[in-house]
Amino acid sequence: CGKKNRCVITLVKRIAILNKRTFYLTTPIYYVNDAPHIGHSYTTIAADVLARYKRAKDLDVFFLTGTDEHGQKIQKAAQACNKTPIEFVNGVVDKFKTLWNNLDISNDDFIRTTDERHCRRVEEIFQQIFENGDIYLGEYEGWYCIPCESFWIESQLEEKKCPECKRPVEKVKEKNYFFRLSKYQKSLLDYYEKHPHFIQPESRKNELLHRIKTQIEDISISRSAVEWGIQVPMDPTHTIYVWIDALLNYITALGYNDDMQKFQKYWPANVHIIGKEILWFHGVIWPAILMSLKIDLPCKVFAHGWWTIEGQKISKSLGNAIDPTSIIQSYGTDAYRYFLLREVPFGLDGNFSYNALIHRINSDLGNDLGNLLQRTLTMIEKYFQGVIPEIVDTDDELKRLSKSTCDKVDAEMEELQFSKALENIWAFIGHANKFIEDKKPWVLAKTNTTRTQLAAVIGSLAGAIKDISVFIYPFMPRTAVEIQQQLGILEDNRSLCLEFQQGFKKDTVVRKGKPLFPKIDPLVLENVS
Ligand code: ME8
Ligand code: MG
Repeated sequence: CGKKNRCVITLVKRIAILNKRTFYLTTPIYYVNDAPHIGHSYTTIAADVLARYKRAKDLDVFFLTGTDEHGQKIQKAAQACNKTPIEFVNGVVDKFKTLWNNLDISNDDFIRTTDERHCRRVEEIFQQIFENGDIYLGEYEGWYCIPCESFWIESQLEEKKCPECKRPVEKVKEKNYFFRLSKYQKSLLDYYEKHPHFIQPESRKNELLHRIKTQIEDISISRSAVEWGIQVPMDPTHTIYVWIDALLNYITALGYNDDMQKFQKYWPANVHIIGKEILWFHGVIWPAILMSLKIDLPCKVFAHGWWTIEGQKISKSLGNAIDPTSIIQSYGTDAYRYFLLREVPFGLDGNFSYNALIHRINSDLGNDLGNLLQRTLTMIEKYFQGVIPEIVDTDDELKRLSKSTCDKVDAEMEELQFSKALENIWAFIGHANKFIEDKKPWVLAKTNTTRTQLAAVIGSLAGAIKDISVFIYPFMPRTAVEIQQQLGILEDNRSLCLEFQQGFKKDTVVRKGKPLFPKIDPLVLENVS
């Protein structure tokens, strides 16, 4: 009978695993013409935070990032270094991978467009679109922006320059394969109407709608003058346009067309997180390609804003890039992750400054969070010999606040409003600090008659800090581990507790360590910048 029960339990567990809700999220795949900068790290960190958040909520997450390695821009960059394209891209890809590692990015896969699995599937998919009648050979005459890898027609140029990045464009006249984008105009507009939350933030949708209504034409999807790319299957004198090659990564990485099990499990993507300059590709061209292939559209495309310096977009090709590695060496990975997501509401542009970074570290991380932990642990050592006191049946005000914070954070995370989620967490941290001032444990410690009250106050603070470690985990995984170690609930960093309001084991002994975020002297700033 016992054996039978165990079988039933195993079966129930299996079914639970099979039914686990999935969450598929992606970053853009980045061009490897140069090393990654703060902008690339921004999107990837945001996606990582969301991935960690969803995993903590027990979803079966698939988080994809990767690199976009073909095309004219990269061919040129390799030539400039006297390297073959593949030698060149291998070197840059390593820089991306090292940075993701240093930033604790928890991606489940890393796709390179030079991967055999990708190239093979892109050829097959191109062939399918052709067979569906959506690709035809034509003559292209217009303009091309190499840094953006974008075709522009005369009327789209601004002062003869690329309307996107304002750099010079070159004239292109060649026989090209075209994709019947115009055929999908109506279906796209219908889809937008039926799925009002498909494009986020809302404000970006209107620009897109306007362009679909006024400027949708068939697009060139092959290049005869560019060698570095995937060959057009029915015409080896052409390579597939780098953007078609790149967009398909979102399905080739899931094994589309050969390992359909994985594809069916995770597709459609829950969200593609991108920067605003590539919304046309993700919000219009990509959905049209999927419609042609009769594949479901992604649930959401979120186009965030730009990090700028003196109002100008930070960019590799503009030469004003900021190297994340030097920042994390000076200030730490978690401070950097926190700063990027806290400083600017997700969706808007923001100006980068070392001053603002140091201010956030000293005030939010050092003063608010670091001190709360330090003060509480000091009191646990002083009044309770380092053992976290048990709370017996009190009205725990912090616990109630923590619960409502949890609901608010949840709502903000659903909307990818990372800065607002953090604001709510920091409001709670503020309450916990104020709670110490209000309850004055040092007064309660003076007489024996208030011992139970003292235990309630300190126990409640310890519980609040544990919840804070759970709240901040997706944003600052290392700090969450550090807090739980100091609280004495973590023997090693493999068993981080991510359960909310779970309490402590009896007789948990704290291990107060060094301050989480020691104050940074602004003089250090002068040496860095
Ligand atoms: O566009 N601020 O690659 P890319 C914020 N390969 N985010 C920024 C940024 C900034 N200043 N600069 C870059 C490509 N980003 C294509 C994508 S996807 C199928 C192909 C981030 O190397 C942001 O996510 O130019 C932006 O969309 C992406 O990097 C562009 O990276
Ligand atoms: Mg770019």
